[in-house]
Amino acid sequence: MIYLLGIDVGTSGVKALLIDEGGTVRASATVEHPLSTPRPLWAEQDPESWWRGTVESVRRVLAAGDIDPCDLAGIGLTGQMHGLVLLDSAGEVLRPAILWNDQRTGPQCEAVTQKAGAERILELTGNPVLPGFTAPKIAWVRENEPEVFRRVNRVLLPKDYIRYRLTGEFFTEVSDASGTSLLDVAGRKWSEEMLTAFDVPREWLPEVTESPVISARVHREAASATGLREGTPVAGGGGDQAAQAVGAGIVEEGIVSATLGTSGVVFAASRQYRVEPEGRLHAFCHAVPGMWHLMGVMLSAAGSFRWYRDVLGEAETERAAQERRDPYDLLTEAAAGVEAGCEGLLFLPYLTGERTPHPDPNARGVFFGLTLRHQKAHLTRAVLEGVTYGLRDSLELMKGLGIRTDQVRASGGGARSAFWRQLLADNFHSEIVSPGIEEGAAYGTALLAGVGAGVYPDVPDACAAALSLSGKTEPGPDAAVYDTWYPHYRALYPVLAPQFRAIAATVARERSGGGS
Ligand code: XUL
Repeated sequence: MIYLLGIDVGTSGVKALLIDEGGTVRASATVEHPLSTPRPLWAEQDPESWWRGTVESVRRVLAAGDIDPCDLAGIGLTGQMHGLVLLDSAGEVLRPAILWNDQRTGPQCEAVTQKAGAERILELTGNPVLPGFTAPKIAWVRENEPEVFRRVNRVLLPKDYIRYRLTGEFFTEVSDASGTSLLDVAGRKWSEEMLTAFDVPREWLPEVTESPVISARVHREAASATGLREGTPVAGGGGDQAAQAVGAGIVEEGIVSATLGTSGVVFAASRQYRVEPEGRLHAFCHAVPGMWHLMGVMLSAAGSFRWYRDVLGEAETERAAQERRDPYDLLTEAAAGVEAGCEGLLFLPYLTGERTPHPDPNARGVFFGLTLRHQKAHLTRAVLEGVTYGLRDSLELMKGLGIRTDQVRASGGGARSAFWRQLLADNFHSEIVSPGIEEGAAYGTALLAGVGAGVYPDVPDACAAALSLSGKTEPGPDAAVYDTWYPHYRALYPVLAPQFRAIAATVARERSGGGS
């Protein structure tokens, strides 16, 4: 039997996942690591903790899978995107990694946008320069830590640092490199123009390959630390979103994924490089050679429903404990009893600000349209409908760019609910299926390694061999009702945006003790 290993360097831990060539999961192990927030809006991690987690999780899966490391055909890497790892000329880490969710680089993003021009940046990199992306972090270190900056010799992304520790080689691949603001995303190579705009020497960056390509092999020292065989091939892998999409089979045009986790993601593969003219969707290289992807991210998806359960679902939570049921099911059953559209009650799910389609940290959650007729079940249903409208916003932007939606694959905690899957089908006007496997990015990158190692001829074949779809939900009669209410949902944000801004300013003033 041939095996494949996926390693996911996530924000909360490193996950190692062992699968066999038929796609069956043989073993999985996760080792957590801490996140430090030395100042408000900062997020850092020690790359050494990722390496310790890699060694430990790989040791554990090899033991639990009870396999001969010689039967491991390849390793795929994936992980949190956008993070900045800086090395000196001896390959030593110069400072803690600055992560994707760190928000310190607003001024650096503005400066480079002024210098290079918003339109040109969007055309070249598929996205505006966002504070979470990698290159503005390099600019921040230049301006704020000159003594560190003087010693920089290499710039790596999180998973590519683990590749360096496993193999001694410096490589990245196109999907993760797309989130740096330094890649010519259409050309799938580093952009000389963006390197100049950020004043970053080309020699600092690793070679960039297509995602399934075997770029390096496990070296002796790493083999003895992890229990892997020296010489085991390591594929490029992918950024976590692209790798997760491979794991759900989002590798052809017309197949779109909707993930209902704490945050919500809509992801579509495309044979063409397409950019949303206002940069509201991410446009990145896909981990499938010759393909790109578009992605919308909403910050509070199933997270909105969790908030609602915690704040307003006390009675259901108590009853569920007595009846040994899930409080979400009790809430959803009641919501199913009121009519679609909630008699005009709408919920805006911007509980932690928003990213797509309104990149606005000041946006806030709203119940709009309450009357004396509205009961708790209406509130519940409005929350589920509002989150679905939020995902629909991303899908509508994609449709506007010519993306087809023949099938939507729904995953994440929220997609376990049949009611929520029906809401998705009705709003997306598309059949909804489950990808069957919920192992995420580690699973997808193991398949990429299988392609690189020659176990599968290409990425779509790998997905066909490994994935089995289940459960189909078709659009129903309520689809027309949501078509009536969705435009009202869309109309609310532009009207409320000035008030979100004003309220954020007042809150900040009150917090700093300034009064009115
Ligand atoms: C992608 C993104 C996250 C991070 C962390 O753009 O910001 O998916 O990669 O998981």
